[in-house]
Amino acid sequence: MFQASITENIIVIISGTLLLCLLGGFLISFLFVYRKRQQRNRLERLQMQSRFQQELLRTQLEIQEQTLKTISQEIHDNIGQVLSLAKLNLNTVDMTKQDELQEKITDSKNLVSKAIQDLRDLSKSMNTDNIEAIGFIRAIEYEMDMIRKTGFKTQLDIEGKMIRLEPQKELILFRIIQEVLNNIMKHAEANAIEIKVNYAEKEIRISVSDNGKGFDLTPLNENELSGFGLGIRNMHNRAKLIGADFSMSSNIGNGTVVSLAVPLNNHNL
Ligand SMILES: Nc1ncnc2c1ncn2[C@@H]1O[C@H](COP(=O)(O)OP(=O)(O)OP(=O)(O)O)[C@@H](O)[C@H]1O
Ligand SMILES: [Mg+2]
Repeated sequence: MFQASITENIIVIISGTLLLCLLGGFLISFLFVYRKRQQRNRLERLQMQSRFQQELLRTQLEIQEQTLKTISQEIHDNIGQVLSLAKLNLNTVDMTKQDELQEKITDSKNLVSKAIQDLRDLSKSMNTDNIEAIGFIRAIEYEMDMIRKTGFKTQLDIEGKMIRLEPQKELILFRIIQEVLNNIMKHAEANAIEIKVNYAEKEIRISVSDNGKGFDLTPLNENELSGFGLGIRNMHNRAKLIGADFSMSSNIGNGTVVSLAVPLNNHNL
């Protein structure tokens, strides 16, 4: 009887100890796995941040490059032409003809004023610093002004209450729109561009449409981005980077629409 109770106690102690060991082992391995996962998450977060910073830098460089291109084109096509015309006017002035003299001087004054205005517009044209200062809507306005000068009809409609996004997001968004506009000028054979920006409660919806020749989007629908140039691939990746939805629709002969939906209060940067 006494012997049986000792055996019973021993069994209880052994099984208790085993249970405790098991629990301990379980706890330790749980902690181990948990810490490992934490480390992995931290590493992934760091990698994502570094990828984001790299992409941001590339975006800034591309905007600067584009700005330089626009400036040199504007100087060559507009300001240079206008000043040359003014010079030609003054060179052909005949001092003996009073009427003609008056007219040529007035013409030259107007041309020089136009060149000054063009220069002012140009200096306002964006660089990466002032997108942060003026906001991406104003930056788009300047971009559209420049495009209008090349002969396009342009329209920018804004609905809802305008909200500023994080500067980095605005920069990336601006670069996406800039590439859409570049593509229209390069490929669409369009003469009108319309941008709509709708500030809804939870997201900003942006669409850029042209009335050009359109193109075949099959590769895009099949998620076959490699079928396109770097432009469309970059737009896709950059939209993803700021948590935005990017889509395109196009009909041959009926223009192209690029749509973006940017969620608000998305603090995933
Ligand atoms: N608005 C548009 N209208 C007509 N075709 C378009 C339009 N946008 C893009 N495309 C077509 O999609 C193709 C891919 O565009 P994407 O921007 O990826 O490359 P790209 O402009 O040719 O070169 P990159 O942007 O790398 O300089 C273009 O070559 C063009 O055929
Ligand atoms: Mg392109």
